[in-house]
Amino acid sequence: MNTRARPDFLWGAALGAHQSEGNNLASDWWVRENEPQSVVAERAGDAIDSYHRWRDDMDLVASAGLTDYRFGIEWSRVEPADGHISLASIGHYQRMVQGAVKRGLRPLITLHHFTLPQWFAAGGGWLRPDAVERFQRYVEVLAPVLESGVDRVETINEPNIVSIFPVISIGNGALSAGYPIPDAATTEAIIAAHHGAREVLRRNHPRILVGWGVSVQDFQDETNSREDFEAYVEPRDQVFFRAAAGDDWIGTQTYTRGRIRMHEGVAAPFREPGVSLTQSGWEDYPRALGGAILRVASIVGDLPIIVTENGIATADDARRISFTREALESMWSAIDDGVDVQGYFHWSLLDNWEWGSWRPTFGLASVDRQTFQRIPKPSLAWLGSYSR
Ligand code: BGC
Repeated sequence: MNTRARPDFLWGAALGAHQSEGNNLASDWWVRENEPQSVVAERAGDAIDSYHRWRDDMDLVASAGLTDYRFGIEWSRVEPADGHISLASIGHYQRMVQGAVKRGLRPLITLHHFTLPQWFAAGGGWLRPDAVERFQRYVEVLAPVLESGVDRVETINEPNIVSIFPVISIGNGALSAGYPIPDAATTEAIIAAHHGAREVLRRNHPRILVGWGVSVQDFQDETNSREDFEAYVEPRDQVFFRAAAGDDWIGTQTYTRGRIRMHEGVAAPFREPGVSLTQSGWEDYPRALGGAILRVASIVGDLPIIVTENGIATADDARRISFTREALESMWSAIDDGVDVQGYFHWSLLDNWEWGSWRPTFGLASVDRQTFQRIPKPSLAWLGSYSR
C-alpha cells in the first residue's frame, strides 16, 4: 500500500502497437523483418495478437487495480496506402478507447512507436519534405478515436532512438553498450513533426494533454569536465527535453544508467566489468529512474513529468518486483525534492516482441505464444496493490 502518491497520480502499464498487435503488414518494420536475409533475427509475426485480444489486456490492467493504460495506434493500419484511410481501423481504435474508459482506465495513446507506413518510409521517412504535413494529416483523421475519451497523447515514442535508426540498425541488443549520436537531420525533422502534431491536437482537441516520451538514461558525469559531459548528453536526449517546451507534460522512459568518463580524450560510456546485467544487456540499476527524473527536471523546469516507461527484462519475477520497488523509491525521492511527477507506467504489461527478439521478457504477465493466453505474474498484482 502506498500513501505517498497524490490521489490523481497515474498508475499504469504500457504496450506498444507493433510489438503487441501482430501482422502489421503495411508497416516498414514488417517489410524489414520479412525480407530475405533480414538483419532482424526474429520477426514479430502474430506478436501477441493484441489487435484482437485488447479486451483481455485491458481486463488485466483494470483488475490489477491500475488506473491508466498506455497503448499505441499503428499509423500503417490507419493509412495503409498513401492517402487511403481505413475507416475500419479507426473504428477499431475508437472501440479500444471506449473499452478502456468503460473499464475505468484513462487511456494515454502513442501515435508513433518506431514503425511507419511502408509507403511513408519508402519515400524517405522523416526526411521527406512533406513529413510533417503527412503526420499532421494522420493526426487529423484520428479525431473520432481521440474524441472517444483520450486524456493524454504521446505524439512520438523515444524520438532520440528514432533519430538513431539512420545511424545504427536497432534490434538484438544493439544499444546495450551506449548510444551513438542521433542523426542531426532526423532530430530536426522529428522535433518539427512533434510540434506539427501538437498544433493539430491543440486545434482539434483542446482538452487533450500533449507530450512525448524520451528515452532517458541516468547519465552520470564522471568526466571531471562538465563541458564534455554536456556535449555528450545534449544531442542524445537533452535536445528532445528542450523541444518539449510548450507541451503539457514530458515522458521519461528509463531502464538503466550510463556512467560517462573520458576515454582517450573523448566522453564515452564506461561499465565496471562484472556488473549485473538484465536480459537486454543493460546494467541492472533500478535507481536510474530517480536520477533520470532529476536530470529531465533540471532542463524542463516546471513542466510535469510522467514516467511513460520503466521496467526490467528478466525471467525472474521476484527480481522485477525488487527492481521496481527500488526504482519507485528513487522516484519518490525526486518527488520529495520538489519534482512534479504525475504518473508511472510500467513497461510492459505483457511479455512481447522486443524489436528483433522474443527473448527479453519485460512483462507483468506472460503470454503463451501458441494459444495467446495471458498469464499474470505476481508482479502485476503487486504493482496494482502498491498503486492503491
Ligand atoms: C521502447 C520499447 C522497448 C523498451 C525496452 C523502449 O525503448 O519504447 O518499445 O520495448 O524500451 O527495450
